[in-house]
Amino acid sequence: MPEFRLTQISDTHLARRLTKLTDNFHRVSEYINATRPDLVINSGDVAFDGPTSRDDLEFAGTLHNALPVACRYLPGNHDIGDNPTKVGPPPSQPATEQGRQAFLSIFGEDRWRFEAAGWCLIGLNSLVMNTGLASEAEQFDWLASQLSSANGRPVALFLHKPLFLDSPDDPELAATSIRYVPMPARSRLVEMFGAVDLRLVASGHIHQRRDFTFGHVRHVWAPSAGFVISDAKQDVIGVKEVGLVEYRFQPEGFEVRHARAPGQIDVDLDSLLGAATKG
Ligand SMILES: [Fe+2]
Ligand SMILES: [Fe+2]
Repeated sequence: MPEFRLTQISDTHLARRLTKLTDNFHRVSEYINATRPDLVINSGDVAFDGPTSRDDLEFAGTLHNALPVACRYLPGNHDIGDNPTKVGPPPSQPATEQGRQAFLSIFGEDRWRFEAAGWCLIGLNSLVMNTGLASEAEQFDWLASQLSSANGRPVALFLHKPLFLDSPDDPELAATSIRYVPMPARSRLVEMFGAVDLRLVASGHIHQRRDFTFGHVRHVWAPSAGFVISDAKQDVIGVKEVGLVEYRFQPEGFEVRHARAPGQIDVDLDSLLGAATKG
């Protein structure tokens, strides 16, 4: 395969009652239907509130199954619960094996590896990291065996949470620790991927578009496909807009294109929740 075209969507946060987010998903679906990539990846927060509402996961699953292109998924904190961190307060919905199993039953594997256009593409469940769940250790063992067979191929990593803000040595701060892969899992990942030709880390979760390079690795934060978070509730780090990201992988390199589906609207979380509460 000379070229592999991949579209990353993220943070769709689908729920039957949140029709503005469903509308944005339909605009994304139409765009995918028009552009026909080889694969769509949803990098997590597929559902609005999976840990509380299985119906949100099922609704999201139904909409994704209607896409005209094959799809792979990674869980987000709003799908299976969140990571505990060393410095922040305990999450109100910690990631659980039960939540993970619900995700698996609807979306399939929460970690995957495949090869395309000379690349090795790996997806990880970032929400089991630092939980102590059995699946956390299993995933690290699985990852070690996958990386040992990369055989010099360039590697692209997909996961819900970004690895870090600017650098692997960023301190973990109480106020922002839930934004990134928690320590010590972050250091372990950086060390493991340091042994292979890592070129790209693609994440979601922040609901801001960002694209920067650290060392030889490009870090792409996909925006939410569904909504943005107000400046009163969240720092401005990148660009607050809804959209998606398109990649073209070739044996000699890759291209990134930041895009928006025609008709996608920058729904604000505050207006969304207000509208939902009012009925
Ligand atoms: Fe999200
Ligand atoms: Fe998230």
